[in-house]
Amino acid sequence: MIPQEIIDQILDRLDIVEVISEYIPLKKSGRNFKACCPFHNEKTPSFVVSPDKQIFHCFGGCAIGGNLIKFIMKHENLTFPEAVRIAAAKAGIALPKYERPDGESNSLASRLYEINNTATAFYQNFLRSPKGKGALEYLKKRGFSSDIISEFRIGCAPDSWESFRKYCESKKISAELARKAGLTIPSEKGKGDYDRFRKRITFPIFNERGNISGLGARVMDNSLPKYINSPETVIYSKSNVLYGLNFSKKSIRAEGYAILVEGYMDVIIPYQYGVTNVVATSGTALTSRQVDLLKKHANTAVMVFDADSAGVAASLRGLDILIENGLNVRIATLPEGEDPDSFVREHGKEGFMKEINAAKDLFDYKLDLLLEKKGKSDIGGVADDMLPTIAKVQNAVVQSDYLKKLAERLGVHEASMRYEMGKVKPDYSYHYASEAKVDVEVTNYRSSELHLLGLALSAKRVFTLIQRELGLHMFRDINVKKVMDMLERFYDENDENINVGKLMSRMENDADAGSAVVQAIAKAEITQDIDKAVQDCMICVKKENREEKLKDLTSQLKKAQASHDDTGVIDILGKINKIHKEKVA
Ligand code: UTP
Ligand code: MN
Repeated sequence: MIPQEIIDQILDRLDIVEVISEYIPLKKSGRNFKACCPFHNEKTPSFVVSPDKQIFHCFGGCAIGGNLIKFIMKHENLTFPEAVRIAAAKAGIALPKYERPDGESNSLASRLYEINNTATAFYQNFLRSPKGKGALEYLKKRGFSSDIISEFRIGCAPDSWESFRKYCESKKISAELARKAGLTIPSEKGKGDYDRFRKRITFPIFNERGNISGLGARVMDNSLPKYINSPETVIYSKSNVLYGLNFSKKSIRAEGYAILVEGYMDVIIPYQYGVTNVVATSGTALTSRQVDLLKKHANTAVMVFDADSAGVAASLRGLDILIENGLNVRIATLPEGEDPDSFVREHGKEGFMKEINAAKDLFDYKLDLLLEKKGKSDIGGVADDMLPTIAKVQNAVVQSDYLKKLAERLGVHEASMRYEMGKVKPDYSYHYASEAKVDVEVTNYRSSELHLLGLALSAKRVFTLIQRELGLHMFRDINVKKVMDMLERFYDENDENINVGKLMSRMENDADAGSAVVQAIAKAEITQDIDKAVQDCMICVKKENREEKLKDLTSQLKKAQASHDDTGVIDILGKINKIHKEKVA
C-alpha cells in the first residue's frame, strides 16, 4: 500500500494538463483543454481536461474520467501502484522500495514488457553464440556495426520450433504469458506451444520510454513473409508505435524535426551513420496516434520516400493526417529503388542530409506530382485533389497562403479558388449560407448588390467607380453594405488589389457578412465584361431603389389617406411625382 499522503503529495506537485499533454496533444478550450478521446475512436474531441478541477473526463462514448493517476493507469494499461510509481517519478518523489511477494499480481502489461525483455536477451545471446554466426555475418554484410547491434538489441531466433518455449520452462516463466505475448503459439495438435520467431533476425520494438512492447523479425534470405511481428497485445499495436523514438527523441527535439522513414533498417543504419533524428512507421500508413507521439517532440516532419510508385502512394496517404494535426510536412525523395538504409550506406550522412535539406514543402510536392500526373490541362482535377489537403491545414494564415499559391500556379483567380474551397470545407471562413434558401430569397436588387460587391472585390478601380457613380448609401442589403464599408476602409489603406482572405479574417465572427462575400465572389467570377456588368448592376440597383421608395411612399400614402391627413397626402404625392419624373429623365 502506498500511503495516501504520498499520493496527495504527488498530485500536489503535478499538473494534470502537463501530464496528459505528454501522452496526447491538448487544445485549450475556454478554461479547459480538449482532445479526441484516447480511449475510444472519435473524430470530434469530447475528451476534456480541467486544470481547475485537475480531472479529465470523456463526454463521448466511453464516459471515462478521473485524476492523472487514473489516466496513466488507463493509458498504459497499468495497475494503480504501477501508475503511482510513474507519477511519483514525474513528480520527483521517491517511493519506498517495495517488493511484491508474488510477481503474478503485477499488471499484465508489465509482465508482458518483462517477458519481451527476456526474449530479446535470449535472442541477443543466441546471435553472439557460435550458432548465431551466420546471422551475425548477414548483419555485418548489411553494414551493421557491433555497437549498433548492441544498442538496438538486435538478436537472432534459432532455427528451432521450441527453443524459446523450452527456455521459458527452464526459467519457470508461465507458458500462458509467453502465449499472451505472442512469443509462442499454441499448436493445433495439442503438442504444446511452438515459437513464433524462428531462424530470423530479431528487432525489439521499443516504446517511447524504451520498454519492449513487441518484436519484429526478418528472414535472412528472400523468403516470405519478410517480417513477422508480434501480434497486437495490450502493450503493442503496430499503429501506435514509432519505431526508434526512444533512441531519437532527444535528437528530434534538438534538431526541431523528425525524419520519418518506413522500415526498421531505415532507422538503424542512418542512426549508425549519425543521422539520429529518425523514426519509422514500420510500413503502415501513418496513424494519428503516431503523429501525436511525434508532435510531443517536434512540429516538423520530413518524410523520406523512395521515388517508386508505392512509396509515392504511401506518402500521399500519410500527408493529410500530418497536416490535420498541425505538423509542418516536407517530403524528401530518394532515387527509385533506394531507401534510407541503402542510400546512407552509399552516400554517407552528408549525401543523405543533402536530400533531407532539399525536401520539398508538402504543398509543392503534392502539386508537382499532380501536375505531372494530370497535366496543366486538367486544372479542375488538380484543384479537386489539392483543396481537401489545404482544407486540413490548421493555421489559417498558412492555409490562405497555400490557396493563393495554388491559384497562382494554376493560373486562376484567387477568389474562385477560395470559392471552390468553400465547397470542400463548409466551415471555411467563407461560410456558406444554405444555398437553397438563398436562391429563394434573392431578389433582383439583392442579386445586383451582391454582384457589385463581387466586382468591387476584384479591383480597386471597380470599387472607386461604384463609389463615385452609385454611392455606397444605395446599398440596402445590410451585409453587402457592411462589407462595402469595410472595403472602403481597406482600399483606403491598401493601394493594391485586395487580399480577400485578409478581409475575411476581419469578419470571422460574422457568418452572414462572410456568406455575402462568398456569394458575391461567385457572381463576379462568371462575369465576362466587367465594365458592362458594373453599369448594368448599378442601373438595376438604382431602379430597385426607386421602386422600393415608391412602394414605401405608396403605403405611406394609403395610411395618410385613411387618416384624412390632407397635408401628408399632398406631401407624399409630391415625392411620388418627383420620382416618376426622374425615371423619365
Ligand atoms: P520494407 O520492405 O521496406 O523493409 O518494409 P525494410 O525495413 O527496408 O527491410 P530490408 O531493407 O528489405 O531488409 C518496411 C517496413 O514494413 C514492415 C517492417 O516494419 C519493415 O521495416 N514490414 C514489411 C512488415 O511488417 N512485414 C513485412 O512483411 C514487410
Ligand atoms: Mn530496406
